[in-house]
Amino acid sequence: MSISILAIESSCDETSASVCVDGRILSNCIANQTIHERYGGVVPELASRAHMQNIVPVVSAALDIAFPEHTTRNAQPLIHNPQLATINAIAYTQSPGLIGSLLVGAQFAKSLAVSLDKPLIAVHHMQAHVLANLIPEERPAFPFLCLTVSGGHTQIVLARSPLDLKVIGETIDDAAGEAFDKTAKLLGLPYPGGPLVDKYAKEGDPKKFKFAEPQIPELNFSFSGLKTSVLYFLQKQEQGFIETNRNDLCASVQYTIIQILLKKLKKAVTETGVKNVCIAGGVSANSGLRAGLQQMGEKEGWKTYIPKFEYCTDNAAMIAITAYYKYQAGEFSSLEESPSARAEW
Ligand code: KG4
Ligand code: ZN
Repeated sequence: MSISILAIESSCDETSASVCVDGRILSNCIANQTIHERYGGVVPELASRAHMQNIVPVVSAALDIAFPEHTTRNAQPLIHNPQLATINAIAYTQSPGLIGSLLVGAQFAKSLAVSLDKPLIAVHHMQAHVLANLIPEERPAFPFLCLTVSGGHTQIVLARSPLDLKVIGETIDDAAGEAFDKTAKLLGLPYPGGPLVDKYAKEGDPKKFKFAEPQIPELNFSFSGLKTSVLYFLQKQEQGFIETNRNDLCASVQYTIIQILLKKLKKAVTETGVKNVCIAGGVSANSGLRAGLQQMGEKEGWKTYIPKFEYCTDNAAMIAITAYYKYQAGEFSSLEESPSARAEW
């Protein structure tokens, strides 16, 4: 029997819906919320409101792209959409994330599941980031290691099977994405600064300025010191220094973050003996990190896997692929389960 999943992701400031049939992604629609740019960060109340506005059009678009032969072009209410009849289960992001944002996606998924009489699958957002690596045809064999780097998390995960994932290292303070965004703010760049640092870094010298790397035991990370060290460094400079050195500053900050990440990843490979290595999460869209992982993989004899850009930042395709494995394992969730902002694995 074919397995069709409709998945919804709404954990932060992207509203996304995806259809996956037998492990193949047929659509992955994402509505970005630009309203937060003017506030220098995601405003939770505004994010929830924007999810409410986006969710129906985004789900309709995901169904239309997946099943073009049945396209209704919004001519009738979503619930009467013939495309929904072919769906076997509705999946949604249950945790972690902004609670108001999670509630919109969860409630929408539950309502759809009840009205269609289909099972529900609750998905852990961080597990889904890791399993984004199982979307392409060329995917890592188990066991593999995954460096998951996002706006809220920095983890090294040992994956023994799709549903057997163990966090073996993580940040003790800021996430890698926060390190990008907070240092970008010090450099006068708008939120989210990560992609802009990436852009300016391409034209800069990564060794021009040196920032201290923290000495943290085991496979754990720390990024809060980097922000402070960039702040103290900038305070000592003359006016106009940032503007004239923006490219070199971005390249040097980015280089430091990548060094911190890759050194720990190398340690994880040495300790586990696992040489299939993936990256995931929003920061894995960073061109320096992608190139750095590839270079290190070639040098160390690893097999490396890097998801397509659209599967790195928040997206529902990763929720759909995770739900596909959960469906096969019979891991369904009840209507009583609620989303939670924080969640252990
Ligand atoms: O996974 P994600 O989309 O959302 C969370 O679950 O947090 O990650 C968002 C983070 C932000 O901190 C953003 O600045 C960072 O990913 N990011 C990047 C790049 N693209 C997104 N950081 C560095 N370089 C990029 N190209
Ligand atoms: Zn994420």
